[in-house]
Amino acid sequence: QTVVVLFGGRSSEHSISSATAGGVLGAIDRDRYSVIPVGITREGAFVLEEDRPEKFPLEATHLPEVVDNGTRVRWPEPGGDRMLRVAAPDGSTIDLGEIDVVLPLLHGLHGEDGAIQGFFDVIDVPYAGGGILDSAVCLDKHFTKLALSAAGISVAPGITVRQHDWEVDPERIRTAVAELGEVVFVKPSDAGSSVGVSRVDAGEGLDEALRIAFAESPKVLIESKVAGREIEVGVLAGREGARARASLPGEVVLTSRSFYDFEGKYLGGDGVEIVCPAEVDDGLIAELQQTAVRAFEAVDGKGLARVDFFVTPEGGLVVNELNTMPGFTPISMFPKCWIASGLNYGELITELIEAGLR
Ligand code: DAL
Ligand code: MG
Repeated sequence: QTVVVLFGGRSSEHSISSATAGGVLGAIDRDRYSVIPVGITREGAFVLEEDRPEKFPLEATHLPEVVDNGTRVRWPEPGGDRMLRVAAPDGSTIDLGEIDVVLPLLHGLHGEDGAIQGFFDVIDVPYAGGGILDSAVCLDKHFTKLALSAAGISVAPGITVRQHDWEVDPERIRTAVAELGEVVFVKPSDAGSSVGVSRVDAGEGLDEALRIAFAESPKVLIESKVAGREIEVGVLAGREGARARASLPGEVVLTSRSFYDFEGKYLGGDGVEIVCPAEVDDGLIAELQQTAVRAFEAVDGKGLARVDFFVTPEGGLVVNELNTMPGFTPISMFPKCWIASGLNYGELITELIEAGLR
């Protein structure tokens, strides 16, 4: 089978996607699959990448990047063969082979929001992971909350603010924010990896937090800080009509960091630890797993998702968000949760690819 590993992209999570690709290129089962790595530059050009995992390491000092090498990938015509071609800088065109499935390892806009999924549906190329609807709903945190609430799943109290609301009546927003409690989080509705997210204590710095968030997205969520543990569960879709299944939970433990921000996630910032499996009792594991599967079904999940929870001191479960293409490096939470549950990293990649084949 020929698999296109697709990564990079125009979103603010370009480098994280490239690091994920480095991990996947290093672990994909080469006896089973022939691999064509395709990168998307920050400008949006599809280029044939080198098949070298070490080119895309996750290093705090130098986040990896897809650089335009002048090649241009030509996707198959709809209704034709599934031949992938590349136009070389000298103008010649080379056939790369017929593709069986694309593995999009993209985070954020144009990649994790249903856009690329729609593109592949239109050109009739199978792909792994989320579909159009679940991707779109989960990348927009406002709509994620609507879908989860409708399914009876608790979400963080909060408001959605559009740029226009803030410009016209900031006092109304300030009052609403004060009602959300002492500590709130301000986040763009559709960015990932905590890009554009700020913590605001007692209203201090709200203007700046909104400015930062609006720079990422025209729609912003302001949410109460939910007290409790941050626990995450991996979900894999069932095959052939079977129900989705959930991994053991992992935990994000903040020791000295004020929240799980970009630096703590990827730049080796201290004050945060990933503990997998999380130390929780069997009853809570079962409850987390059931709620994770319900959340996945509430958004019409396909492929996979990481469901991020807060577990309150009273034992209540609040779903913070779902990620339909969670960070997927060997040290990321999603693979760690599945490794703790008995699948190794390579098997997890195989599982995803096989679910995408048709
Ligand atoms: N958006 C990042 C990649 C994550 O959720 O893991
Ligand atoms: Mg996210």
